[in-house]
Amino acid sequence: MSLFWLSLTHVSLVLLCGGAVPLRLCSAVCPQPGPAAPPVSRPLERRGAAVGRAFHLNKLDLGAVIEFRLACAFRELREVPVAAEPRCAEPRCAPFRRPALQGGAPPWPRPGPPSARTGAVMAAERERRFYRELPKVELHAHLNGCISSSTMRKLMAQKPDLQIQNGMTVIDKGKKRTLDECFQMFQIIYQITTRTEDILLITKDVIKEFADDGVKYLELRSTPREEKSTGMTKRMYVETVLEGIKQCKEEGLDIDVRLLIAINRRGGPAVAKQTVKLAEEFLLSTDGVVVGLDLSGDPTAGHGQDFLEPLSEAKKAGLKLALHLSEIPNQEAETKILLGLPPDRIGHGTFLNSATAGSEELVPLVRQNHIPIELCMTSNIKTQTVPSCDKHHFGYWYSIGHPAVLCTDDKGVFATDLSQEYELVAKTFNLTRSQMWDLSYESINYIFASNAVKSKLREQWCKMKPALFD
Ligand code: IMP
Ligand code: ZN
Repeated sequence: MSLFWLSLTHVSLVLLCGGAVPLRLCSAVCPQPGPAAPPVSRPLERRGAAVGRAFHLNKLDLGAVIEFRLACAFRELREVPVAAEPRCAEPRCAPFRRPALQGGAPPWPRPGPPSARTGAVMAAERERRFYRELPKVELHAHLNGCISSSTMRKLMAQKPDLQIQNGMTVIDKGKKRTLDECFQMFQIIYQITTRTEDILLITKDVIKEFADDGVKYLELRSTPREEKSTGMTKRMYVETVLEGIKQCKEEGLDIDVRLLIAINRRGGPAVAKQTVKLAEEFLLSTDGVVVGLDLSGDPTAGHGQDFLEPLSEAKKAGLKLALHLSEIPNQEAETKILLGLPPDRIGHGTFLNSATAGSEELVPLVRQNHIPIELCMTSNIKTQTVPSCDKHHFGYWYSIGHPAVLCTDDKGVFATDLSQEYELVAKTFNLTRSQMWDLSYESINYIFASNAVKSKLREQWCKMKPALFD
C-alpha cells in the first residue's frame, strides 16, 4: 500500500466517519432530562452506510481498514460531543457527564453548571412564573385603556382608513408621556371602538387576558359612550359590556367579573347625574354585576365639588364609589370635599401624603375611614406623576399597614399586566413572595362584591397556596 493511498483513505475515512453517537446517559437516570442539544454527530446507521461507501470507493486493503478503525476509535474517544447530551442541572446526573478529552476547546458549547447569566435568566423566569400563577384581584382597570396590542391590530384591520398605528395607543417600555398626552391617546382609541361589536370584542379580549394573567376577580370600569356615527347609545354601550362579561362566564373562564360605571369629569355634573341614573338601573337589574361608580378622566377638568351631589345620590342608592383622588398635586381642597362622602376606595391618591400645605389633613381622613387605595405603579411612572419606582407612594401606605391594592389602570396603554405590577413592587420594595401573597389575599377584603363572593375567593386562594409555595 503506498503511503499516498494510505494517507488519502485515512483522511477521507476520518472525514466520512464524522463524530460519534451521542450518549444519553444522563437521560437514562434523570426523570426530567433537559432539552437535548442539537445533534452534532451522525447516527450510527448513517455512519455505517457512509463507511461502506468509503470502502467501496477507495478499494482499501486490510491495513487501511485497521488504520480506519483505529482512527475512528481514536476520534470517538476524543470527540464524543458532551454537548449532545441533554443538559440537566440535577447533581445526581453529574457523574454521567463526560468531560471533553484533550485537544483544546471543542467547537460546540461546553456543558456544565449554568453560567451566572443563564442562572439569572432562569431565576427571572421562575419569578415571572410565580407572579403569573399567584391568584390576583384587579380593582382598577379602565376598559378602553386595557386593550392589548393584539386586539388593537384586529380593530385597526377593520378600520384601515383611520391609519392608526400601534405607537399611537401604547406607551412602550422605557417611554413616558404626560397625563395630558395620555388623555389624547384615549381620543384615538375611541375612534377605533365606535360600534357595539367593537365593545363586545374588547370586553371579551380584555377579560380573557386578565384571566390568562392569573386574575381571579376583576372589577372593570368604563364610561358609557354614545356614538352618533354608529347609533350606539350609552345604554347599548353598557349592555354590550355586560354581554361580554356574560359570554366569558358562559365560556367557563376562571374569573369573576364585575362592572363599575364611570363618570368622566370632563362631562360635568349634568352628565354625571345621567350616568348615576343609568348605573342605578343596572345595579338593580344585573344581579350584582354592576356594583359601583368610578370618577375619572382628566383631573384638571372641572372641580370635585361639582360631583358631590350625584355621587352622594349614588351612594344612597347602594352604588359603591371608587374615586380618582389627588392624582396630581394641589388638589387638597377637592380631595377633602370628596373624602367627606366618604368613597369606598381611592384611585391613585398619589399626592395624599405629600408635604404640601393642606395635605396634612388628608392622611388622617383616609386612615380613620380605612379607605383602601388602588395603586398603579407603571401608570404613575409612565405618566410622570411619580419620578421613580422607589419614590412610589406604595412605600408609604404599606409601611403604615394601610389597605393598598396593586392594579394596572390601563394595561394596554401602559403595556403592563398585573403580574408585572406585583413583580415590580416586590423588587422595588424588597418584599418576599410570602408578603406578596398576603398583599394579594388581603385585596379580597376590598372588592365591591358580596361577602359570599369574598369567602369563595378566600377559599380559592387557600387551595392554590400550597402548590405555589411548593
Ligand atoms: P373607558 O372609561 O373604558 O372609556 O376607559 C378610558 C377612560 O378612562 C379615559 O378616557 C379616562 O376618562 C379614564 N382614565 C383612564 N386612565 C385614567 C387615569 O389614569 N386617570 C384618570 N382617568 C383615567
Ligand atoms: Zn385610573
